[in-house]
Amino acid sequence: MKDTQKNGRSKSTMSGGRRLAWGAGIGVLLFAIGYGLNSKGWLSFSLSSSDQATTQIGTAAYSREAMEADRKVQSKDKKAVAAGVPVGADGYFVPPPESSIPDTPYGEAIRRGQTIFMETSTTVSDHVGNTLACVNCHLDGGRREHSAPMWGAYVSYPAYRAKTKAISTLEDRIIGCFTFSMNAQASSSGIAPPAGSDVYRDLMTYMYWMSDGAPTGQKLPGAGFPKVKKTELGYDLARGKEVYANNCVLCHAVDGQGQKDAESDVVFPPLWGANSYNWGAGMARIDTAAGFIKANMPLGKPFSLSDQDAWDVAAYINSHERPKDARQKGTVEEARVEFHDGEESYYGKDVNGVIVGGGVEK
Ligand code: HEC
Ligand code: HEC
Repeated sequence: MKDTQKNGRSKSTMSGGRRLAWGAGIGVLLFAIGYGLNSKGWLSFSLSSSDQATTQIGTAAYSREAMEADRKVQSKDKKAVAAGVPVGADGYFVPPPESSIPDTPYGEAIRRGQTIFMETSTTVSDHVGNTLACVNCHLDGGRREHSAPMWGAYVSYPAYRAKTKAISTLEDRIIGCFTFSMNAQASSSGIAPPAGSDVYRDLMTYMYWMSDGAPTGQKLPGAGFPKVKKTELGYDLARGKEVYANNCVLCHAVDGQGQKDAESDVVFPPLWGANSYNWGAGMARIDTAAGFIKANMPLGKPFSLSDQDAWDVAAYINSHERPKDARQKGTVEEARVEFHDGEESYYGKDVNGVIVGGGVEK
């Protein structure tokens, strides 16, 4: 645990409850109508104003409890039918409840992994160059469908990735998120935790535990981020700015830097600038961000934006300067040709008269 415990747990990530309390002070109350708090205190969207993607974990069609009861029977009766995949009434995989984490060395590793996931920039500070945490993009501690949930990821690797043109193990995949989403290049060590680090051991133990009962070899509903179809109008920065002002400013602020509380804990994460994900991150692609935003933002109102608005606002946030692509060795133009050609990104392109992609530093 060298990597993760060096800095202890000096700061704690805000729970959904604290975030809401804090947010109310600045007018987020408006949004609170869409929120409910489930038993663990994480945000759940049972009262969401949108008609889709309503998550009701408590009303699982084949609940965790029923599955565990079935397994008990099966362990005694070898002829019994194997337990099915725990799937909620909404059709999405139901990860085990936190209360099922055992008080064993295995359970301790799960909890360490969970803490890294929730408080990445403070627990693994030597390898994180921004103020983000894994949970900022993989919501509900990596549980939420359509935000690349960890139960969807765990059962999908090793896999071939076009980005690296090689087979990626789950560890390789996490290294990718440290390198780009967590901007490791700007951390004190300048690199992601080295392969084999306890950081990955703990994170993967957390993911393994969360995936209990999920089948391998098939894409589960709600895994990954959804794709948003291209629109006839394409995307546009002026429209995106307006969508941003109307739907995002309250939490992420006009300057895109989000908000911190009095203890300097990040309440709403930054969307661009030196403390956000870098140009090489999946989220820096307009199509990927549009899918994430459509399904997850504004927080508490999943699937409330039109496809057009999701594309426009994704373009807007990704038109701003952010840390340089960690792969860039030569010029921005060379990196654009090598890594960004043909993708939906402003990298190396002209935005209001300026070529973006050069990067910003703290
Ligand atoms: C800025 C947002 C962001 C942050 C922060 C982030 N990720 Fe990701 N993550 C993504 C995106 C976007 C993808 C997938 C899209 C892609 O590959 O282009 C992804 C994919 C993944 C996957 C593969 C998911 C799948 O279904 O294949 C894993 C595993 C993962 N991230 C783990 C982590 C971990 C662990 C952390 C923290 C150390 C983290 N991520 C931080 C945005 C983020
Ligand atoms: C009610 C507050 C709120 C509103 C409104 C909101 N967000 Fe967020 N957003 C959050 C929070 C909180 C997170 C981190 C999620 C977590 O940690 O659970 C987040 C995460 C994100 C992320 C990924 C993390 C990062 O920093 O890049 C993006 C991108 C994002 N929001 C974009 C948007 C866009 C675009 C809008 C408007 C359409 C929007 N958000 C509206 C609260 C909000």
